[in-house]
Amino acid sequence: MKLIDGKAIAEQIKLEIATEVNHIIAKGGKRPHLAAILVGHDGGSETYVAAKVKACEVCGFKSSLIRYESDVTEEELLAKVYELNKDNDVDGFIVQLPLPKHISEQKIIEAIDYRKDVDGFHPINVGRMAIGLPCYVSATPNGILELLKRYQIETTGKKCVILGRSNIVGKPMAMLMMQKKYPGDATVTICHSHSTNLINECKAADIIIAALGQPNFVKEYMVKEGAVVIDVGTTRVPDSTKKSGFKLTGDVDFNAVAPKCSYITPVPGGVGPMTIVSLMKNTLLAGKKAIYQ
Ligand code: GUN
Repeated sequence: MKLIDGKAIAEQIKLEIATEVNHIIAKGGKRPHLAAILVGHDGGSETYVAAKVKACEVCGFKSSLIRYESDVTEEELLAKVYELNKDNDVDGFIVQLPLPKHISEQKIIEAIDYRKDVDGFHPINVGRMAIGLPCYVSATPNGILELLKRYQIETTGKKCVILGRSNIVGKPMAMLMMQKKYPGDATVTICHSHSTNLINECKAADIIIAALGQPNFVKEYMVKEGAVVIDVGTTRVPDSTKKSGFKLTGDVDFNAVAPKCSYITPVPGGVGPMTIVSLMKNTLLAGKKAIYQ
């Protein structure tokens, strides 16, 4: 069994980005600028956004954090999105999800100029990704592809089972694993809460990508000997032995499943750091106007 060290790969990629930014600056170019909008004080969102701001610093990017209390109106938030769309200094921006119930996430996402949508959530980017056109690919699926690539994991002709059908992970992951190039060319199955044959699908899988948000869902008996298991779960499970009071727990029962795998990602330190670094890669592309003018 080989552990996929997302943390180490992410550190390496951030150094690669920082080197490129230094070259851009040395040639008189503009420092890439990422803005992030954070609404409210959700613990997970606070942690992720802080990590994104920190990663910007490591990569040599400019970052701006725009905060609102959770009673911000949809109109106020939309006005800020329109302002960032027009701000020539901002290359790309994100609105951290989830948003409070009274705000339509879809309306906010669709208001973002797709040329600055470094999260890759706008329907134009999702659509372009689906048909294999240049676009911003959403961070978690792109981070997983990067791990498969860097560990030279074979995907061509493999049976890949994706657990979860979210717009952020499951659906784009399926599109990418079936794309006509490496990493991809896999035979893809998506399982979700209404799937009747989930266990047998998993048992037959060469690659399992678990993104359902249910701690320890994937058990040893569901995994084929030699399978590759990618764990996207990051649920905060109460743990009184931790200073924070919780333990980040993946969707895979790691201790039981790991011995059967050829490769497996840990939680934390697997997919999580790669998600942030993928956003940094998209920000670099935005700064270089490499995808859209
Ligand atoms: N919430 C969970 N993951 C993400 C992400 O990748 N981007 C944004 N904006 N919000 C999220």
